[in-house]
Amino acid sequence: MEFIHKPHAVCIPLPAQGHINPMLSLAKLLHSRGFYITFVHTEFNYQKLLDSASLESSSVEDFQFETVSDGLPPDNLRGILDLPALACSVPVHTLDSFRQLIKKLNSSPDLPPVSCIVSDGVMGFTLKVAREFGIPEILFFTLSACGLLGYFQFEKLIEKGYFPLKDESYLCNGYLDTTTVEWTTSMGSIRLRDLPAFIRTTNADDILFHYNMESANNAVKTGSLILNTFDELEQEVLDVLKTKFPNLYTVGPLSLLCQQICGKKLESIKSSLWREDEKCLEWLDGKEARSVVYVNYGSLVIMTPKQLDEFAWGLANSKYPFLWVIRPNLVNGGTEVISQDFLDEIKGRGLILDWCPQEKVLSHPSVGAFLTHCGWNSTLETICHGVPIVCWPFFAEQQMNCLYACTQWGIGMEIDADVERGEVEGLLRELMEGRKGVELKEKVSEWKKRGERASRPGGSSYVNFDLLVENLKGGMY
Ligand code: UDX
Repeated sequence: MEFIHKPHAVCIPLPAQGHINPMLSLAKLLHSRGFYITFVHTEFNYQKLLDSASLESSSVEDFQFETVSDGLPPDNLRGILDLPALACSVPVHTLDSFRQLIKKLNSSPDLPPVSCIVSDGVMGFTLKVAREFGIPEILFFTLSACGLLGYFQFEKLIEKGYFPLKDESYLCNGYLDTTTVEWTTSMGSIRLRDLPAFIRTTNADDILFHYNMESANNAVKTGSLILNTFDELEQEVLDVLKTKFPNLYTVGPLSLLCQQICGKKLESIKSSLWREDEKCLEWLDGKEARSVVYVNYGSLVIMTPKQLDEFAWGLANSKYPFLWVIRPNLVNGGTEVISQDFLDEIKGRGLILDWCPQEKVLSHPSVGAFLTHCGWNSTLETICHGVPIVCWPFFAEQQMNCLYACTQWGIGMEIDADVERGEVEGLLRELMEGRKGVELKEKVSEWKKRGERASRPGGSSYVNFDLLVENLKGGMY
C-alpha cells in the first residue's frame, strides 16, 4: 500500500486538443516525479479518445482517467462554432461534476487522498472546489506568455476606449500604443488585430470576452502560474508577468522536457481526439530532405470553402510536395472545392489526410516548411524541430504568436487573413528557396538549440519544474 502515501495530482484541462496535449505532458512529468495522477477528460472527449484508439494501450500504474460532464447536449459540435456554449456551460455543469469527482476520489480507500489540483487557467472556476475541500490548486495557462499578457490588458483597453470596437474597420488599420498599457518596453505599437481574438469584438456583452477576462482576473489572485514556454524565448514578457505572478514556473517546451524526464516510458498514454494517420510518415520517407511543405491548422480553425480553395491552388502552383491535413470539420460549407482537377494536378506530389501525428511529421527530415495557424502548441513544436513557418493565424492568441514569431523570433512570415493563392505560392517559394527562407531557417535552428538547453538538467525549464514539484509536494498551493 506504498502508493497510498503518494502525492495525488488531479489534472483538468479545458476540453480542447490544444489544451489537453500540454496538460497531459505535464501530468506525465508529475507522474515521473512520483505523483499518482488522475487526469480528467469530459465524457464527450473520453469517448472520442476511445474512438480514435488513443487509449488502446494507456494502462500505466498510478495513472488513471476520470470524466466530468461538459453539460452540452450530445449532438453539440463542441468546436469553435460553439465555444460560447462551452463557456456558459462549464462553469456550472463541469464545476458541479468536478466537485462530485473530488468527493469520490477523496472517499476512495484505494487511492491516495488528492493533494493538489492542476487546472487549466481557463477553467479557474475549479479553484472554488479546491477551496471547498481545502486542497491546494495551481493554474496552468496553456497559451504563450505573449498571448497571456494580452489577456491582462482587457480592462485597460476598455478603459482607454479601444474596445469594444466601433466597427470591424478598426481591425484593419488600428494600432495600440503599448506605452498606454502594461507591455514590454521594446515593442512600440501593436496592430489591434494582433491582440487576442476575444477582445477584438464590437459587442460589449460578448461571452468569450467576459469568460477570458474573468479567467485572467481570477488567476492573478492566486499569484502562481505554470506556463509552457521557456525563459529565453519570452524573457521580456515573462518579466512583466512576474510582477503579477511571483511564482511563475516556465516549464516548456513540455514535449522536450517530457522526452528528457519521462523518456519513452509513458508514450503509450495518448491524447489525440482524432485517429492519427501514420501512412504519411512512409510517404515522407520517399521525399527529399527538406523538400515538403506541411500544412495544418490545428483542432479549432474553421475556414470558408473560398479560403480552402485559395490554399489549395497556392499549394498546387508552388509545385512543392505537400502534406495537407484537412480535419473533417475544418471547412464550414464543405470541401467540394477540392475538385478532381485539383487532385489530378497534385497527383504524386500532394498527400491530404484528416489528422496526423504532428510531432512525428515535424521531426521528419523531409519537412522543410510548416504552414500553420500558429496555435501555441504548433508554434512550440515547430521550434523544437527547427522548422520555419508561414503563419495564417485564425483566432484566440494566435495573432500574437504570429506577431512574435515574425518580428521577435524571426522564424516566420505572415499570410494575410484574406488569404490569396498568389501570396501562398510566393511566401512558400521565399521560405523554401529565397534569402529570407535561409534567415528563418537559421533563426529557428538557434531557437531549437535554446529550447533544448532549457529542458536539459540545469536548464531553466528543468530547474523550474523541479521547483514546482518540490512546492507541490510541500503543499505550497
Ligand atoms: C488552441 C489554440 O488554437 C491555441 O492558440 C491555444 O494556444 C491552444 O489551444 P489548437 O488550435 O488546436 O489549440 O492548436 P495548437 O495549439 O497548435 O494545438 C494542436 C495540437 O494538436 C498540437 O499539439 C498538435 O501537435 C496536435 N495535432 C494537430 C496533431 O497531433 N495532429 C494534427 O493533425 C493536428
